[in-house]
Amino acid sequence: MALYQATTSAPVNIAVIKYWGKRDTKLILPTNSSLSVTLDQDDLKATTTSQTDPSFSKDRLWLNGVEEEIKPGSRLATCFEEMRRLRRKVEQSQGEPAISQWFIHVASFNNFPTAAGLASSAAGFAALVSSIAALYKLPNSPSELSLIARQGSGSACRSLFGGFVAWQAGTATDGLDSYAVEVAPREHWPEISAVICVVSDHKKGTSSTAGMQRTVETSTLLQHRIKEVVPQRMTNITKAIKDRDFDTFARITMADSNSFHAVALDTEPPIFYMNDVSRAIVNLIVEYNRASTAAGGPLKAAYTYDAGPNAVIYALKEHIPEIVNLVSHYFPQAESARSPLGAEPLPAGFNANII
Ligand code: DP6
Repeated sequence: MALYQATTSAPVNIAVIKYWGKRDTKLILPTNSSLSVTLDQDDLKATTTSQTDPSFSKDRLWLNGVEEEIKPGSRLATCFEEMRRLRRKVEQSQGEPAISQWFIHVASFNNFPTAAGLASSAAGFAALVSSIAALYKLPNSPSELSLIARQGSGSACRSLFGGFVAWQAGTATDGLDSYAVEVAPREHWPEISAVICVVSDHKKGTSSTAGMQRTVETSTLLQHRIKEVVPQRMTNITKAIKDRDFDTFARITMADSNSFHAVALDTEPPIFYMNDVSRAIVNLIVEYNRASTAAGGPLKAAYTYDAGPNAVIYALKEHIPEIVNLVSHYFPQAESARSPLGAEPLPAGFNANII
């Protein structure tokens, strides 16, 4: 039996102001700040157990039961090193046992099918960092730990918090001011909810890491986005969240998704993440909102797309049944996956899952 063991989990987060571009690829420092909503603990999440024991002969990691190699100098290796560095501080200052010199074994499971093409690295690295922090009994705050999760995968730094989370881009070259902060806890706006529409369960063509680097190197539109567009949106969406103003939240969320996919298209060669079904869902949400605004009402739903064709629709809980009915009506295959998410792979085609 291992001397030390800890298990924690971290949910997926979905950005409403997108992170797209790095100013430092090794430290994973972004070209712009971003903001996301972390899904609830019982939704899509990674659950990770870490153990350390003097009998272990090397660091090892299993993802959904399959062992992954921890290559020297890789993002994974960096996270292990950084966590050990924090533990050594505690050992030196508080005379805690020197367990940082032992190797670590980590096993991580996603409670959603990896094949569904939903970003899992954010939840994965956040759960990895928080489980080793628990294993090492570290006193560090979630923002301090987010500095390390960030070096695993940029978006992972935001999954260290629940609720509404900003990743402040920072300006320092050592990255010490590039971390996640809470904008508002989940309880601040419990009415907000999300529907994830799995449009394709194929692995995406261009990874976020490779795609955003190409955008940084070739897109002129990105400079406009970084300098003129995102800073204003960060301020405005933060206010909308604080005011629980869904109409403004929805407008900015959809505008920023469009802007991110526009810079992907402005990349050489161009990157297309959305497909025909993704675009049909955009039109459906636009029409649904038009019906509301034509009657003098507010926007009722907001779509957003990451580096793939799957749609996430944010809405207030009261409108979720109507939205799910609409999606199922226009995309009948959606019916097949309206049950809660389980370990079974989702059927191919278009599926909608309420989360
Ligand atoms: C489109 O965090 O996956 O989902 O830092 O290279 O690991 P790396 O990239 P990653 O990029 C996420 C991009 C995005 C937008 C977002 O989550 O903000």
